[in-house]
Amino acid sequence: MNKTTAAITAVGGYVPEFVLSNKILETMVDTNDEWITSRTGIKERRVLKDSDKGTSYLAIKAAEDLMEKSGIDPAEIDLVILATATPDLPVAATGVYVATEIGAVNAFAYDLQAACSGFLYAMSTATAYIESGRYKKVLVIGADKMSSIIDYTDRTTCIIFGDGAGAVLFEPNDEGLGLQDEILRSDGSGREFLKISAGGSLIPATAQTVADKQHYVYQDGKTVFKFAVTNMADVSAKIMERNNLTNEDVNWLVPHQANRRIIDATASRMGLDDSKVLMNIQRYGNTTSATLPLLLNDFEKRFKKGDNLIFASFGGGFTWGSIYLKWAYNS
Ligand code: UT7
Repeated sequence: MNKTTAAITAVGGYVPEFVLSNKILETMVDTNDEWITSRTGIKERRVLKDSDKGTSYLAIKAAEDLMEKSGIDPAEIDLVILATATPDLPVAATGVYVATEIGAVNAFAYDLQAACSGFLYAMSTATAYIESGRYKKVLVIGADKMSSIIDYTDRTTCIIFGDGAGAVLFEPNDEGLGLQDEILRSDGSGREFLKISAGGSLIPATAQTVADKQHYVYQDGKTVFKFAVTNMADVSAKIMERNNLTNEDVNWLVPHQANRRIIDATASRMGLDDSKVLMNIQRYGNTTSATLPLLLNDFEKRFKKGDNLIFASFGGGFTWGSIYLKWAYNS
């Protein structure tokens, strides 16, 4: 009997309507379209403007999109994992609220936080549950309202991030399709370079931390860039090597969308043509936990059953990794 594998069987996505273009950013901070485009590849990003809506709103929309397209009954879902760095509330997991709101009445749910690698790690977790035979339908959502933690007077960060959400369903597969291999890594010495300093147990919120803008994302861009380029390329090349995949065998690179130059460096190490490299950074910027599922949602129609996809990410923590997955269906 074949080993049970865990395959993606449906995808969905959502981005809010408001478009924050480079042109608008030029009126907010000392920057320009040429600098942002050439340094990052980003032209615009989406922002959830409604002040009464949090990350759960984005996640629910993405899950509803998936359910509408696939016709899946939410009552059949066993588990909902929400990857997010921007939960609605510090305590009371957002995924729990999302599961209830979408009608996943027989599921349990929780959040997973690993910054920009959250979705990649959640794919691994979902796969482990399915391969073990414990659960049959695992909904993995990546969602972030990055605009809630960005200082729109800081030109080094506000040009990069955007809001969005994507969702995928993992189910058992008996044809050997789905997740094949993974290399997941982390290095805690990196936490100084990309973080929110206050609001956690180390530095609880005070009037002073608010005045000092310690609740916004801080990033030492140059250092993060250096580690991201090396590590994302390393794990992607390594996962190809240990699965005996040549650049011709790889159909698609699904890379975290943080900076076009990081993506190009990874693709070049893998020997891939631009035509195999999925990108929507120009439209959404860096949506943190949502970049990978939003790519799947945008490019789903191009995938064929049996295609070899390599996922790669790098994020705060530091956290990074690569996943090799065989696509399981034709759209
Ligand atoms: O997803 C999580 C992981 N995050 C990442 O992977 C992000 C990694 N880092 C990056 O993508 C890049 O480092 C940035 C896009 C954040 C910055 O690009 P860079 O090429 O590393 O620029 P830099 O920080 O070295 O800055 C170069 C110059 C500086 O001016 P001086 O010191 O040379 O006079 C900056 O002050 O560009 C200036 N600068 C800007 N100029 C116009 C920084 N931000 C801006 C801006 N507009 N928005």
